[in-house]
Amino acid sequence: RASASLIPHEPSLLFTVAGMVPFMPYFLGEEVPPTRRMVTIQKCVRAGGKHNDLDDIGRTNRHFTFFEMMGNFSFGDYFKAEAIPWAWEFVTEVLGLEREKLWVTVHVSDDEAAEIWQSSVGVPPERIQRLDKDNWWAAGDVGPCGPCSEIFYDLGPELGDGGGPAHGGEDRFVEIWNLVFMQFDQPRPGERVPLPKPSVDTGMGLERITALMQGTNDNYAIDALRTLIEASADRSGTDPDGEHAVAHRVIADHVRASSFLIADGVLPSNEGRGYVLRRIMRRAMRHAHIMGAEDPLLWKLVATLVAGMGAAFPELARAEALITETLRHEEARFKEMLERGLRLLADETARLGAGEKLPGEVAFRLYDTYGFPLDLTEDVLRGEGRGVDSAGFEAAMERQRAEARKSWAGSGQTAEDELWFDLRERVGATEFLGYTTLAADAVVAGLVSGGKSVDRVEAGNEVSIVVNQTPFYAEAGGQTGDRGTLEGEDGTAVEIADTRYCADDLIVHVGTVKSGAVALDDVLEMRVDAARRSGLRAHHSATHLLHSALRRQLGAHVTQKGSLVAPDRLRFDISHHALIERDALAGIERAVNRQIRANTEVATRLMTPDEAIGSGAMALFGEKYGDEVRVVTMGEDAGEPWSVELCGGTHVARTGDIGAFKIVAESAVAAGVRRIEAVAGDAAIAHFTGQEDLLMRAATALKTSPAQLPERIEALIEERRRLERELSETRRKLATGAQGSEPEPAKKIDGIAFAGRRVDGVPAKELRGMADDLKKQIGSGVVALVAVGGGKASLVVGVTDDLTDRFDAVALVREGAAALGGKGGGGRPDMAQAGGPDAGAAEKALESIEQALSAGAG
Ligand code: SER
Repeated sequence: RASASLIPHEPSLLFTVAGMVPFMPYFLGEEVPPTRRMVTIQKCVRAGGKHNDLDDIGRTNRHFTFFEMMGNFSFGDYFKAEAIPWAWEFVTEVLGLEREKLWVTVHVSDDEAAEIWQSSVGVPPERIQRLDKDNWWAAGDVGPCGPCSEIFYDLGPELGDGGGPAHGGEDRFVEIWNLVFMQFDQPRPGERVPLPKPSVDTGMGLERITALMQGTNDNYAIDALRTLIEASADRSGTDPDGEHAVAHRVIADHVRASSFLIADGVLPSNEGRGYVLRRIMRRAMRHAHIMGAEDPLLWKLVATLVAGMGAAFPELARAEALITETLRHEEARFKEMLERGLRLLADETARLGAGEKLPGEVAFRLYDTYGFPLDLTEDVLRGEGRGVDSAGFEAAMERQRAEARKSWAGSGQTAEDELWFDLRERVGATEFLGYTTLAADAVVAGLVSGGKSVDRVEAGNEVSIVVNQTPFYAEAGGQTGDRGTLEGEDGTAVEIADTRYCADDLIVHVGTVKSGAVALDDVLEMRVDAARRSGLRAHHSATHLLHSALRRQLGAHVTQKGSLVAPDRLRFDISHHALIERDALAGIERAVNRQIRANTEVATRLMTPDEAIGSGAMALFGEKYGDEVRVVTMGEDAGEPWSVELCGGTHVARTGDIGAFKIVAESAVAAGVRRIEAVAGDAAIAHFTGQEDLLMRAATALKTSPAQLPERIEALIEERRRLERELSETRRKLATGAQGSEPEPAKKIDGIAFAGRRVDGVPAKELRGMADDLKKQIGSGVVALVAVGGGKASLVVGVTDDLTDRFDAVALVREGAAALGGKGGGGRPDMAQAGGPDAGAAEKALESIEQALSAGAG
């Protein structure tokens, strides 16, 4: 049988810890084996859970987190009477190990096995020892188990006391063979029932026996490990056996474990198997750091590993690219945190007395802020003979959880918020990979659709997805969330329309399943829309340059009041009291473009908020910052950086990548707050092109060139003014009947002359002038002009001075306005104006005035 996956079917186990794990159903009688005897070489990981060798790696020369276990299995076939002599035969005759060096142990209760060793095999009774717990084997707290019998090899007196494995040390007596007599099942911890068919599970560690056969007691000296140790030394420029020998061993083991786990579908995360993987990776990274490796190192060993083991484990070769990328990203991201966390740890331990434990609170800070798994901190401290107050660590973790719950509970939560919050507690913060990559594989950790947590979504469903790690940027600091696609192996595709934060630091991808289906634990390839992100980068970096330019141009009172970074534009609000003049804007624009052309590197570093402020970073007042902040520096001015800001956003690599910068608007948004809108990169070029296009269209319409446009437009405006004047003149003359046309004579109403005229199309503002003309013309009397236009009517009434003691223009115009459905009207006794919506009543308005006049005159 080929080796099974490192991820067992048994839910009770984290990893495949022994050769027998894939066969548990056969031992239990739950499944019928295709044959009653089998042989395997099974890949195993012992890190976390009942079988955990992680803490011993690097300290002994025989422990591994990853190893290969050779096994023979009998499923209700041969038993003790056959297995014991065969084991002896293989070890002494096939491998040729000296009988005098071998010791045997059996379980205290197992007289039968002891008897076989003595009588059938002929092992002297003083070489057979009985042990209790050490000779009882189980994969986990539940499942098949039984007494076991082991063969040990004595490496010699220089490695410790004699007296056999029961008394001597493990360094001297090394276990090379284990026969487990599977006789019981533990359905629940502590409960034992006999198995239907007693079976045998034989195990022999490949690395151990290989070392022995190569005549060494160092399991790391065998070819499979040595090639990796040498590669590690080579890539880091150090001596494989010098002061960093331990680091090389840890790295060699951990690269094997990490690579095989990734090949079997585990990716680093903050829970379960993914977290064990992360712990292994980060531990190895610390050792690379100790050696002074400047660049990520682990990924560079993958090719060596695949060359050595890829033929036996084809899944390793198939996943080579994924393994390399995963290691590279994790290390690149963790490197800076590691350095800073180690410094903090050194500061903290310097304050402690000899042998005093590290306070749990500090271990928790290292975990929470710097991503130090507890066992990494323990590993560091072990070297100085110091422990960690792990109860204090748990308490600090619990306290933070409770506080987060409390602060969230007060913030108008919805049922969906609660879902995210629960998920956040379960899976931890999402790792953001997007500073260094736009694509990565990730494991689905949570799905919410229709406001409910679900296990699976299908084509057509809208969904919010949480994964262990993502290159997608979630909206923050003004920068809008990324878009892109998630793809599964079987043609599954999800289109992501937005990315945002929920429950603080859970990155949620919001989108629609286009094809296939997505289920929890699926692995998806996540791809950020690269062109869009590139626009976001340009606009975000341009915002920083703009911010600095504004302060330089307008003064240090300028602070950021709001910011939007979109792929195709930016908006930046600042505190400033006056309009920013065109000249100033042009100066700001020039300064930004000069920084762009200088093409200096954009640097990002992590520091404490105090260090950041000390370095001149512009922090936002009232913002809450964690223990570590990202500081983005760009541009240059007389040897000093042009801009230093605290920022978690994504930026261009060099200012030149911004391309170009153009301010397109300046306005007021509130008292003392101005808004600048601008474009950068492709959007700036598109803006220029658009402006040019407008000019060309205008010039074409006016049959001129863009250069002649201003003059041409001025001429047109002048022309238009002249025409308007002429038109107005002409209308007036028409209405008053001058210029030869016979004016309609004024009526006489009880001796008072009344000229009422309808002059449609005349603008309201011209009516008064016309009324004046008309008054002059009739000499003494009352005039009324009504004009209909734009769906309403305007009305003017004039009274000659000699009659104002008898008639009031205001009163008269109100009579007319009433007919037009209007209210009010105003002016002086000799001239008043009004209007109304009922354009159809123009004639009636004149009649009402006439009637009012006759009533007044009478
Ligand atoms: N399961 C036993 C072991 O792991 C024998 O294969 O030692």
